[in-house]
Amino acid sequence: CGIVGYVGPRVDERAQTVVMEGLGRLEYRGYDSAGIALVTGDHVSTAKKAGKLANLQAELEANPLPESSTGIGHTRWATHGGPTDANAHPHRGGADGKLALIHNGIIENFHPLRNELLADGVEFTSETDTEVVAHLLAKAYKGDPKTAMLEVVNRLEGAFTLLAVHADNADQVVAARRNSPLVIGLGEGENFLGSDVAAFIGYTKEAMEVDQDQVVVITPQNVEVVNFDGSAAQGNTFHVDWDAASAEKGGFDTFMEKEIFDQPDAVRDTLLGRTDSEGRLALDEIRISEDGLKNIDRITIVACGTAAYAGMVAKYALEHWTRIPVEVALAHEFRYCDPIVSERTLVVSISQSGETMDTLMAVKHARDLGANTLSICNTHGATIPRESDAVLYTHAGPEIAVASTKAFLAQITACYVLGLYLAQLRGGTYADDAKKVMTELQEMPAKIDELLGHLDRVREIARFMADTRSVLFLGRNVGYPIAMEGALKLKELAYIHAEGFAAGELKHGPIALIDAGQPVFIVVPGPDTPHGLHGKVVSNIQEIRARGARTLVIAEEGDEAVVPFADEVIRIPKSAPLLAPLLAIVPLQVFSLELSTAKGLDVDQPRNLAKSVTVE
Ligand code: G6P
Repeated sequence: CGIVGYVGPRVDERAQTVVMEGLGRLEYRGYDSAGIALVTGDHVSTAKKAGKLANLQAELEANPLPESSTGIGHTRWATHGGPTDANAHPHRGGADGKLALIHNGIIENFHPLRNELLADGVEFTSETDTEVVAHLLAKAYKGDPKTAMLEVVNRLEGAFTLLAVHADNADQVVAARRNSPLVIGLGEGENFLGSDVAAFIGYTKEAMEVDQDQVVVITPQNVEVVNFDGSAAQGNTFHVDWDAASAEKGGFDTFMEKEIFDQPDAVRDTLLGRTDSEGRLALDEIRISEDGLKNIDRITIVACGTAAYAGMVAKYALEHWTRIPVEVALAHEFRYCDPIVSERTLVVSISQSGETMDTLMAVKHARDLGANTLSICNTHGATIPRESDAVLYTHAGPEIAVASTKAFLAQITACYVLGLYLAQLRGGTYADDAKKVMTELQEMPAKIDELLGHLDRVREIARFMADTRSVLFLGRNVGYPIAMEGALKLKELAYIHAEGFAAGELKHGPIALIDAGQPVFIVVPGPDTPHGLHGKVVSNIQEIRARGARTLVIAEEGDEAVVPFADEVIRIPKSAPLLAPLLAIVPLQVFSLELSTAKGLDVDQPRNLAKSVTVE
């Protein structure tokens, strides 16, 4: 969910304007309903609507709220209670209509709390866990919102960011945070709260982090942060180095298209500043000793969705460069499977948002079991990097489209930097190889750029295929996770049944799916790939072609061996075999984007999905 809070001077409709604008920028965090609460005179006015933010906007135009200088807003991705007007946030607490509250996360002990309130005669108007907190807060309120919030948060279990306003304290917003994101925006004579800095980037670039288990009170002139035990706390301020324009579409029709074209920069920026004056690689933050890192004898990568596929690509490269065994686990499986880790294990989490609850829980579990944790993340100061022993930031810039593209390339790049860093620590020939690969990596942005200029045929193929019901994707080695990511993009964006397979596995079952006209993408490794893998994949293409498949072949420039068996050849620039994923995925992203557009679907906000899934 996305959350915005604002307090400022008493002019016009500023609170409503700021909150609605912030919600617009946060809509990618969830978009099944939205709502706003403004302190207006001696009460709180609210408006909320199921569906996208535009519905709330229309409601506010039809039934304007009074002017206000203090407000909160929410854009929701449903957890408890379906996406209806009644379940949309804000929720009111108490009988006098003076308090409103919004929430991101899940209150795990909401059943007993709700029963307690029901026994007290409280009437509920929604099915949400949030409304329970609103009533608890109203009950605890004796004139000071902060005191009430401190009393309530200590009774809550689960994950939450809470923001509340009370009509009797018209110039404050009170907030609390546990395991869910919250950041403060520092203005002049006005202050802001948001799930991330996008919420207020149009107004200020000065921001302050909020730690776990802290309560915040903002007024127009002041920001106060206290711990859940009431003791004073000091927030860390930071300057936001991207601007509102980079969070907008930059001339493209969709955020996704823009982000696909951002990819050369995403890779380039992720490689920036990684080497010191002696050419040695460096991480961003590191709280593990060099000896600790040298002793690592096992790496487990935990992630979800696209980030997990980045991890699967990285496994091949990391094992090759470091000879350290690498396992990739879906974070939600890792957390509940009695994993084998020790103090010599490095658990690497990959997360664009740094807020994915499944991944966060896996990281905490690994840490509790004594492992070293390293976060690869695209969001500065997000929860997962803060909970980790070391951090390597991807510098992809804000990714707004729900389906991940540029973050994926940046994640692979960051994993490779990590692999090379570990190789360098091992010294000897490992270190020599690392230098060579780093140079090859530096050449990738230009190759991605070149590729992006040659994808018109892919777009045409996609438009022809708008009625297709099923598409298969095959690959081997690093091409295998690329096949799965290609399939995921098509599911997410075009709602078409798609599956990615290891090409060698096809003959062991899935080949039964092939009949006349079945479209199959095949990611072909370059002819120089070791162990004759190229020839094996060419054979796999022949096997499916013989059974009627329509073969859409992604192959290196100059690879003529594929031509006789390909219905279409999509060319990618030549590269080192382990770096080819940074190219091979690009036509598959563009294919899904174009097909989704041809079907008239919402590319940036596919149905049922959310950018940042902050529930387990
Ligand atoms: C959600 C998104 C996916 C994303 C995954 C992991 O499921 O819809 O696009 O890959 O979360 O997100 P993260 O922020 O942890 O990389």
